[in-house]
Amino acid sequence: MKKAKADLIVRNAAEIVTCAGGTEHPRRGREMADIGLIRDGAVAARDGVILAVGRTDDVLEQVEIGEDTKVIEAKGRVVLPGLVDPHTHVIFAGSREHELEMRLNGMSYLEILARGGGILDTVRATREAGLEELIAAAGKYLAEMLVQGTTTAEAKSGYGLSTEEEVKMLEAVRELNRLQPVELVPTFLGAHAIPAEYRENPEGYVDLVVEEMLPVIARQGLAEFCDVFCEEGVFSVEQTRRILVRARELGLKLKVHADEMASLGGAELASELGATSADHLMAVSEKGIYDLARADTVAVLLPATTFCLMGQKYAPARRMIEQGVAVALASDFNPGSSPVNSLQVVMGIACRQLKMKPAEVITAVTINAAHAIGRAAEVGSLEAGKRADMVIFDAPNHLYLMYRFGTNLAETVIKNGQVVIGG
Ligand code: NIG
Ligand code: FE
Repeated sequence: MKKAKADLIVRNAAEIVTCAGGTEHPRRGREMADIGLIRDGAVAARDGVILAVGRTDDVLEQVEIGEDTKVIEAKGRVVLPGLVDPHTHVIFAGSREHELEMRLNGMSYLEILARGGGILDTVRATREAGLEELIAAAGKYLAEMLVQGTTTAEAKSGYGLSTEEEVKMLEAVRELNRLQPVELVPTFLGAHAIPAEYRENPEGYVDLVVEEMLPVIARQGLAEFCDVFCEEGVFSVEQTRRILVRARELGLKLKVHADEMASLGGAELASELGATSADHLMAVSEKGIYDLARADTVAVLLPATTFCLMGQKYAPARRMIEQGVAVALASDFNPGSSPVNSLQVVMGIACRQLKMKPAEVITAVTINAAHAIGRAAEVGSLEAGKRADMVIFDAPNHLYLMYRFGTNLAETVIKNGQVVIGG
């Protein structure tokens, strides 16, 4: 039989963490610790697609290597699927470092927002910025993410809060998909806050989202997902339901910023509506956990946010995993509650504060994260037929990644079979 010719091979890796076998359904409960580890492994690819994964000897038997094959020696290194960040607010202008002192002086995140700061500060800056400026700012953050191993990320709107400005943010996402290697999955988050001009008429803003913004976004194909910040003093469960039901009718998939500070029933709503993910969940109820365990909804946990908000209570990750919930992790990168865009940092916090085991953490930033943004058929694991997105870490084994938290260990990053960092 004629062997397939590889144009890329990564070989002799101390460990290949494949995360294989979870493409159909996200891994839940105990399955999350199954990361498909191969020692002395190799991955071969052609035209950006994986041809073979296995022990180096086996892979070398299966594929042909020519003079033009790019060969990467990964001796003493760990190879993971390209990391997937399923919850970011990477498109924004300005920054909010002044909030750090406000928080140290005892002011809460929601108090800052209620006084017209927080998200609304970033809305002012984002409205003032032109499309090019937004693209340049996000491009810089995405480059930082890529260097640290993120090859796919979700990107939300939500700092425009008018039809025109929300469209501008999603156009920035579309442009960035042409301009740089991190693949972005666009989410419409028009219901992120009530803008100042609707302060006295919040229901009028919900009408605007439902009657004007959603149809425009859907018609222009600018977003795959619709998300709502369902929170006390922001959008109620009933307003969230109204927005998400309309979004679903228009063909968008659903996400919810759920039960972050208050236990409002966001997880229950996300499960009931068949949302792809319910995110945050620091204050999720026992019923919410029960519902998530029985739904296809992935719980996306954001421990860097809890850390940055100096919260005492992290999401109950262990309880969720024990109850059979599919858990993913994300950075929540944004200018307020999480100026952290490194998934490696999130992984380190997840072990220490969410008490997730290293193997569970890896599942949560690869295949389960891919499920959380509807990309599991393409990315999130190293398996024949999937995209050749991978990261070679300067780490002797996968445990080391979470142990040495705080230093960027990504040495080589490969997107669609192309070496985009290192090499
Ligand atoms: O996911 N919680 C709401 N939204 C973002 C924060 C956005 C901001 O503070 O700018 C979050 O934490
Ligand atoms: Fe968020």
